[in-house]
Amino acid sequence: MKPWENPTVVGKPLPRVDGNERAGGTARYTMDVRLPRMLHAAILRSPHANAIVKKVDTSEAEKMPGVRAVISMNDPEGKAPWAIHPGTRKPVSQIFDPHCRYQGEEIAAVAAETQQQAWDAVRAIRVEYEVLPHVVDPEEAIKPDAPKVWEEGNQPWPPAKYSRGDVDKGFAEADVVVEHTFRTICQIHTPTELHGSVARWRGNRLQVWDTTQGVFAIQRGLAEWFKLPLADVRVIGPYMGGGFGSKLELGKYTVIAAMLARRTKRPVKLFLTREESFLCVGNRPPHILTVKIGAKKDGTLTAIDYRGLGTFGAYPNWTTTDYQARDLYKCPNVRSEERQVYVNTGTARPFRAPGFPQCNWALEQTMDALAEKLGMDPVELRLRNVPTVSQAEGNKPYSTTGLAECLRRGAEEFGWKEARARAKSDGPVVRGVGVAAGLWGYAGGPPSTVIVKLYPDGSANINMGAADLGTGTKTVMTMIVAEELGVPVENISIEWADTGTTQYTEPSGGSKTVVSDGPPARDAAAEVRKQLFEMASEQLKVPASELALKDGKIIAGDRQVAMGEIRAFAEQQVIVGVGTRKPNPPDQVIHPFAVQFAEVEVNKRTGEMKVLRMLGAHDSGRAMNLLTYRNQVFGGMVMGIGFGATERRIMDASSGRVINANWHDYKLPTALDAPAEVACVPVDPKDESNNLGAKGLGEPATIPSASAVANAFYNATGVRITDAPMSTSNIVAALNAKGNRG
Ligand code: MOS
Repeated sequence: MKPWENPTVVGKPLPRVDGNERAGGTARYTMDVRLPRMLHAAILRSPHANAIVKKVDTSEAEKMPGVRAVISMNDPEGKAPWAIHPGTRKPVSQIFDPHCRYQGEEIAAVAAETQQQAWDAVRAIRVEYEVLPHVVDPEEAIKPDAPKVWEEGNQPWPPAKYSRGDVDKGFAEADVVVEHTFRTICQIHTPTELHGSVARWRGNRLQVWDTTQGVFAIQRGLAEWFKLPLADVRVIGPYMGGGFGSKLELGKYTVIAAMLARRTKRPVKLFLTREESFLCVGNRPPHILTVKIGAKKDGTLTAIDYRGLGTFGAYPNWTTTDYQARDLYKCPNVRSEERQVYVNTGTARPFRAPGFPQCNWALEQTMDALAEKLGMDPVELRLRNVPTVSQAEGNKPYSTTGLAECLRRGAEEFGWKEARARAKSDGPVVRGVGVAAGLWGYAGGPPSTVIVKLYPDGSANINMGAADLGTGTKTVMTMIVAEELGVPVENISIEWADTGTTQYTEPSGGSKTVVSDGPPARDAAAEVRKQLFEMASEQLKVPASELALKDGKIIAGDRQVAMGEIRAFAEQQVIVGVGTRKPNPPDQVIHPFAVQFAEVEVNKRTGEMKVLRMLGAHDSGRAMNLLTYRNQVFGGMVMGIGFGATERRIMDASSGRVINANWHDYKLPTALDAPAEVACVPVDPKDESNNLGAKGLGEPATIPSASAVANAFYNATGVRITDAPMSTSNIVAALNAKGNRG
């Protein structure tokens, strides 16, 4: 099936189908789950960055009022293996490990009648530590005499390397070469909804309500952990308040809740506090990146050299960042080398476009510097180097690429040329504009199954396994089925994210939920329509090919027939359609592309920076819902302002502790940091790689945002902030260094 040519529902700015519940407070989140006889749990965490746990004494805690269970490394279940080394696939730690490698690692857990009793009991646990030297700075951790996070050393594997062409020759041929080194901050996961679970056993069957992006991933993890058949583990994902990648994987808190529930034979609720979540639900790790780009006088790129040092914290995770350096611009000679080191800090986790904003910060600021050195407009420089094939994937063609159109239309609607030429200074207050481009590397695919049911009264039901993280997945899925069945959106209800009652899909992440789960939803609805038309065709004596659906009615020539009037349908009472996700075309590379523009105002005396306006021109294929599309783009931009300007985890090197593990000292961008003026330009190159025409939006929306702001800052001040964040104090320091305080 090809994407619709003239959809009537899909693409419209439809408010969320669950907007009333979410805004009105009736939506039930995991935190809202309350079961009879439910206990409350809390976790004791290591205060040290690196320590051996010599002894855990829980005797006092066990005697505290209301306490029903305490589990630690003293118990057999506390010794079960936890983290798996991605290289060797061997377990590298246990759930309550006697070696704590970062502040916040789990030591013990308590279940009690009330939450306060659980917290009190946690404080009554006595622990003897042997505190070891620690290292929290990646640049310190690679030094030969650095404290060891792991016995085997701080660099678990050789650097990841990539190369094509001849980079040295490429630089020799260049007329202009620029090189800069950049630092990005550690961005901590702090979704509005905290991380937590409610677990209940019925005999040997486990039921868990979980704050998760993927109920089937949690089901699989729990089944392995407790050695249960998959069918005996039911995981339900209620409403969610954001995940951003921090809720893709099974968390220790979920396993601990289930362990405590099994021990006490009572349901257990375990939620992390906000302060705990700052330590242990994951982060976008800090990076040090050096980018060198060579170009001919006319702007043609001749070579890119990309070197990076990253960290995954104390446990292994995936963090290479170089994809855009390989694929965003046409360039025959590219080399990258990335090293990873362990440090004694909380672990990296996937975080909205893992690796991409970091690379973008370095690559796109270097492109900006290159444009200046060439005396060329930064939009023009990018337009000169737009590729038509994916060089990172063996020169396979893109399914579609709207990068050039994003650059052109974005520049036009932003008023780029005029803004660039405008007089910028008003005493110490200066203004500037910047641009950055980006791409995202994933595009969804199998497996995913969706079921659609149609009833004779013209109402329909969608049944899907995917979570709606808050992005509007349910709304878009409803629109797809409404489009296909010609029934009003209000007549469709949706069931989601329950391993007991919905179908398998991969976790919602990678900007691939709509593009993985939407196509089978459309196929399922088309299957329903086919069956309905067969029944109608027989009764109405009209060929199925001449039937249509509109406003919940069957259209046969000038007749309009209610669905319930089709006798065979009324007898059967329901028509069921099953859709399964087909593979993507194997001979194409599917990427969403993004170009964002920013205008900033900087007060050179005070160091204050205001982002005045931003515009995002995005090729994510078809905009499935204009309203949720804009939400994603604007949300992505604000998150990017956080990444570039306001957020950063601050590690105290001497204690190895996070000194801003709370929402007061860790500064998320607020309404005061967001631009007052935002605009969004959807660019649709009519992609046909799936039956929707969509390519995914959630992550590309944040990839170039911080870089666009940084380039605007440079345009305003003539000073480049290579090391994030663009905080007031860093801005003052950078301007002072250049003697440029106005
Ligand atoms: Mo995303 S980082 O795949 O939730």
